[in-house]
Amino acid sequence: MNKIFVLTRKFSISTSQNAIKTVTVIGGGLMGSGIAQVTAQAGQTVTIVDLEPEILNKAQKSIQANLGRVAKKLYKDDPGKIEGFVKESLDRIKISTKVEDSVNSDLIIEAIVEKLDIKQELFNKLDKLAPEHTILATNTSSISVNAIGSGIKRKDKFGGLHFFNPVPVMRLLEVIKSDHISEDTYQTMMEWGKSVGKTCITCKDTPGFVVNRLLAPYSAEALRMYERDASAEDIDTAMRLGAGYPMGPLELADYTGLDLKKSILAVMLNETGNPVFEPIGVLDKLVKEGKYGRKTGEGIYKYNK
Ligand code: NAI
Repeated sequence: MNKIFVLTRKFSISTSQNAIKTVTVIGGGLMGSGIAQVTAQAGQTVTIVDLEPEILNKAQKSIQANLGRVAKKLYKDDPGKIEGFVKESLDRIKISTKVEDSVNSDLIIEAIVEKLDIKQELFNKLDKLAPEHTILATNTSSISVNAIGSGIKRKDKFGGLHFFNPVPVMRLLEVIKSDHISEDTYQTMMEWGKSVGKTCITCKDTPGFVVNRLLAPYSAEALRMYERDASAEDIDTAMRLGAGYPMGPLELADYTGLDLKKSILAVMLNETGNPVFEPIGVLDKLVKEGKYGRKTGEGIYKYNK
């Protein structure tokens, strides 16, 4: 059976069982726009909030282009349905620059800048403004979920929903159990993840959760080998052909962003004290030069923009 068809079928089946009908995504950047897209594709109403109107316009344009690509694959045997799918999905997406006007949702997902104090301030505000039943979730990649929600009262309705980049393509969702999350909230988050086509796994609020805890030491060692022992091409070829990984560690680091890699390593070092997360000269140098990987046109490799 066609993979896309299976995904679509999953969307429609679980959407009808899912308690979440309306979602607000705060932060319309790389991750927020992807989360909004998969939510709208799954038939739910979504509001994207960002401080910057230009970011919201950019998010709408990129979602429209992505939906077009999804629809072409979905309806390759029935092209008459492409336009309707894109239009209906886009119609479910609203945009706003004001958090205050956008809190009337069943689920609010935060995908703003990776800074603890800014995230805490936002959640304290959401806790006061959002309806009592609303579940609050953070998409943080490295900060403690419990620390982010430390100032809120509804700790039973709070947890982590950690998506992967690019959200519409990556199938995993890590559902992070905060210390005081209720079973009901946890089950609703798992069910919602399935409704937007993701395979969900669960993890406690531990540094890096599952994927980054395992991936960060691997990337760090690959970067150290690149500094010391072997070329980037040879390291990546080795792991693709010798370990069967679809991408080598350095290609992957360029893809997700060396700036994010550096900040994840710093948080992990701070939280675990494990020397494998200590600063790496070549990574610090590239980030200082603004060479973040694919998104800036150069990282470990050079890219045609
Ligand atoms: P980004 O920089 O592309 O987007 C962040 C957006 O948040 C910006 O558009 C900014 O204008 C907006 N923003 C900042 N403060 C705001 C506020 N108070 N209210 C409303 N909007 C605000 O960042 P990206 O990459 O989308 O990351 C967002 C979050 O997702 C971070 O916590 C990051 O750690 C996490 N994450 C990132 C992944 C990645 O591969 N980039 C993967 C998984 C999680």
